[in-house]
Amino acid sequence: MCGIIGYVGGKQAAPVLLKGLQRLEYRGYDSSGIAVVDSDNIDVIKTTGKVATLCEKANGGKKLNGNIGIGHTRWATHGAPSDVNSHPHLSADGRFCIVHNGIIENFAELKSDIIAHGLPFKSDTDSEVIAQLIQYLYDGDMISTLRKVMERVTGSYAVGILSADAPDTLYAIRKDNPLVVGLGQNENFIASDFAAALEHTHNFVQLNDGEIARLTSRAVTFFDNNGNTVEKTPYLVDWDISLAEKDGYPHFMLKEIYEQPKAIKSTLSPRIKGDNIILDKIDFSANNVNRINRVNIVGCGSAYHAGIVGKHFIEKYCRIGVDCILASEYIYSNPITDNRTLTIVISQSGETADSLAALRLAKKCGSHTIAIVNVIQSAIAREADNVLYTYAGPEIAVATTKGYTTQVAALYLVGLKIAKVKHIISDARYSELLGELALLPDKISEILKDTDKIKQYAEGYAEHKCVFFIGRNTDYAASLEGALKLKEISYIHAEAYAAGELKHGTISLIEKGTVTLALVTQSDLYSKMLSNIKAVQSRGGDVLAISSYNNKQIGEEADGLLTIPDCDDDVTPILTAVVLQIFAYYIAAKRGCDIDKPRNLAKSVTVE
Ligand code: F6R
Repeated sequence: MCGIIGYVGGKQAAPVLLKGLQRLEYRGYDSSGIAVVDSDNIDVIKTTGKVATLCEKANGGKKLNGNIGIGHTRWATHGAPSDVNSHPHLSADGRFCIVHNGIIENFAELKSDIIAHGLPFKSDTDSEVIAQLIQYLYDGDMISTLRKVMERVTGSYAVGILSADAPDTLYAIRKDNPLVVGLGQNENFIASDFAAALEHTHNFVQLNDGEIARLTSRAVTFFDNNGNTVEKTPYLVDWDISLAEKDGYPHFMLKEIYEQPKAIKSTLSPRIKGDNIILDKIDFSANNVNRINRVNIVGCGSAYHAGIVGKHFIEKYCRIGVDCILASEYIYSNPITDNRTLTIVISQSGETADSLAALRLAKKCGSHTIAIVNVIQSAIAREADNVLYTYAGPEIAVATTKGYTTQVAALYLVGLKIAKVKHIISDARYSELLGELALLPDKISEILKDTDKIKQYAEGYAEHKCVFFIGRNTDYAASLEGALKLKEISYIHAEAYAAGELKHGTISLIEKGTVTLALVTQSDLYSKMLSNIKAVQSRGGDVLAISSYNNKQIGEEADGLLTIPDCDDDVTPILTAVVLQIFAYYIAAKRGCDIDKPRNLAKSVTVE
């Protein structure tokens, strides 16, 4: 999705902005631009294509003088990717300039109103309306003008604003779209995420919905929607900027796959104290837990898949009905959610618009909400009643890897905690599972030590047009994630099916040479899976099984075998996920795909 960086300080702004935009590239974009205030003029350079093209056009920033500016990477929603539709956008008189993330829902109506008042538009975007509206409503005072702008626009927005009349001041407004303010030494920043400003500061403040930020190099002031000043406490983001660099890996995705042992440890170890699970500040007293008669898990994409693994685990050990629901469906359903429902919203970025809307709906229905989130102080983390951070560190590749596995790990902790409080898990089983969780980082490392065989199979399948994934129960949940990973980064059509469903239709797609990955990690389902494998093979399909070391028979029956270290059946989804991530990665690499930034995708989906 779009990215924003804004700078005010003592340095030449343009190079800072360009560097910030490079840090935002991972979010997915099709064009970019920067604007700098030079004396009392606003100069803009923008272009379609990569930030590298913008850097060339701006001669590394040398073409623009001035110590204050805004930059943007655009992911087109309204209007095709083009130079003119790229941000920043100037008002008709060139005195105001904006960058915008989000969607202005009433832009058409505002646009015709403004055009009727004689202000011409240049682009097809919804965003330009903000620049024009500022000019149209300008009353000599930017704070009061921005309040009027916010009263008029509907939709979601994070906006960085320059005014030629205030050449040392940067402004920002937001509603339902992330925007942080970075506090430096005699320099300050606005950014759509920390990554853009992290090499300059680790101190951030969140701008809340309806608020305005006014930044000069020496001071930052916040205003609420009545124009009153608001005090805010900065927080520290202790992410190391090197975590947002490739560190010798060819792609962020591969680096992040390799970071999983550490990431899982960071999710688990602060919360496992001997035989006790302490889930931060969440009140899991018997009273609270016994009131829960239903759990809803909500998320999108991989976060939803993590939720399906969690559903199996929680239902098995807590004996509470769990629904795992796509956030985009949940918000337009009439969900069965009340004050005895526990709603778990899962989101790596913590900014996904559908998941945020689902969280708000669940709260409105009276549900207690827990967010499982990676990005600190993100909207979902702040709005949920409780938050469990996964502590996976920054995830830059668009396709999630450590984000997903740490979400699953967090769900295991929640499940075990509830089961223990409800006294429906034996002490022995509880301790056994805690022990299994603690071993996961080492077992992932074992997979990562030698990935040659996975790579070999992956490269062998790189020319296939279609790959199926099958499994039962948690293996089916893991199949869904494996298929998503493969399709999003390699563009090979991949589908996951519950293995028992094959015979109800899908099997008609199996023909000579069709590849099926069969996940076989649930010991009580081996024989059922074996029958499914045979059914595929007898129609000419090739089966690559994924199973544990000790499952020799599957190896003999399937056409190929990839193994995960022996482990408890309940925790296999994390290990199979790692194998499937590597599999997808090497297929995509062989096909020469843009692995970290797959086409049409964005990292943080902040629009519905
Ligand atoms: C897939 C992927 C997406 C995200 C989804 C939700 O690899 O990354 O499917 O899982 O967009 O994102 P978050 O977790 O940030 O809410």
